[in-house]
Amino acid sequence: MQIITAIEDMQALSSRLLSEKKNIGLVPTMGALHEGHLGLVRRSKDENDFTVVSIFVNPSQFGPNEDFNEYPRDTEGDLDKLSPCKVDAVFIPGADEMYPEGFSTSINIGNIGTILCGASRPGHFNGVATVVAKLFNIVMPGRAYFGQKDFQQTVVIGKLVRELDFGVDIVVCPTVRGPDGLAMSSRNGYLSDEERKAAPILYKALKFGEELIVSNGIVNAVLIKEEMRKLIHTEPLAAADYVEIVTLGRLEGVEKIELPVAICIAVKIGKTRLIDNIVVEKKQVEDVR
Ligand code: PAF
Repeated sequence: MQIITAIEDMQALSSRLLSEKKNIGLVPTMGALHEGHLGLVRRSKDENDFTVVSIFVNPSQFGPNEDFNEYPRDTEGDLDKLSPCKVDAVFIPGADEMYPEGFSTSINIGNIGTILCGASRPGHFNGVATVVAKLFNIVMPGRAYFGQKDFQQTVVIGKLVRELDFGVDIVVCPTVRGPDGLAMSSRNGYLSDEERKAAPILYKALKFGEELIVSNGIVNAVLIKEEMRKLIHTEPLAAADYVEIVTLGRLEGVEKIELPVAICIAVKIGKTRLIDNIVVEKKQVEDVR
């Protein structure tokens, strides 16, 4: 497993691989790796000749009052997890390497970055788009792997790739969950024992929303969202930031459910803001009826 820290070295390696007609798969991460990330790595290993995992806690996607300083960093532990997966290279640039003094370029992804999570995290998705664009130019992958848990992020990156002609296939992999339904997230580590017990309320609320659509045939999105909020607030440690039902491509809020839709939520458990989502497909309703 090669460890690369310089952009120049990563580009030289990728250029050589491409000249040898090798496919490169990229798994971009901010480290603190968990099973969700390792699932992306395995998929990339299956589908490409060469897999690169990037580890970079990207300052430009954190707001001034967010958890950039507290975000878990455990490079040694991450490398220990990646090594048995037979990752080919790990790209771990420093902040000065990615954003040298005077750096001022930023991608503005537009309105899609200002709704849902973007409403409470202004600038977040522009920071994500900027760093992902840089990673694509540095690693030059044919495919890049992202988890469905960050549903809005996958839509933002799809738009980035289409509109700036990156020619990278975006592969979205299913959310990996614990036995109680809690989606894997590096931020789960912030939860106290009591909060950890409360956190599966996110998945319970999503499954409840899904059931209202699929089994109860409810099409009124306002009603479903209200019922989901009520369920979330039966948990004293939980406070809903948003509960939305949106179209898959543009994330437009719907009033009447026409499948497929994504139910997307952000909930604070104590001080920790967690996100999750579920996609409800037409086929699920057809199977029930
Ligand atoms: O999902 C993440 O970990 C980050 O947003 C990403 C895609 C690595 C960009 O910093």
